[in-house]
Amino acid sequence: MTEKLELYKCDICGNIVEVVVSGGGELVCCGEPMKLLKAGTNDIAATEKHVPVFFKTADNGLEIRIGKEPHPMSTEHFIMFIEAISPERDQVQRQYLYPGDEPKMVLEKYAGKMLAREFCNIHGLWGANCD
Ligand SMILES: [Fe+2]
Repeated sequence: MTEKLELYKCDICGNIVEVVVSGGGELVCCGEPMKLLKAGTNDIAATEKHVPVFFKTADNGLEIRIGKEPHPMSTEHFIMFIEAISPERDQVQRQYLYPGDEPKMVLEKYAGKMLAREFCNIHGLWGANCD
């Protein structure tokens, strides 16, 4: 049984899928069950920082940065995407990123609480709540 907005990865080909509508079946890719990704929330011991941090902008928006020190954005190691998810889990905004980009996402409007999560091509999924 899947749940809305869960992320699953195929360790064989690298496909990552997000559940839009939950169903009862098992997700399979390359002939194997896909793995549910669980977001890390504490990277104190890691050299690179992955947990999203939040900065309110002057015009009532919100900037989501990846790491207190910016995460690397090289071709070998980079943040692939950032998502901002409403508390009711009924709205999702996704920013795809590429090597050379800044590891951040800017929301023009910010209505209170939200979950931000990001995916590093090497270190996987990380998340944090903004209050
Ligand atoms: Fe990383």
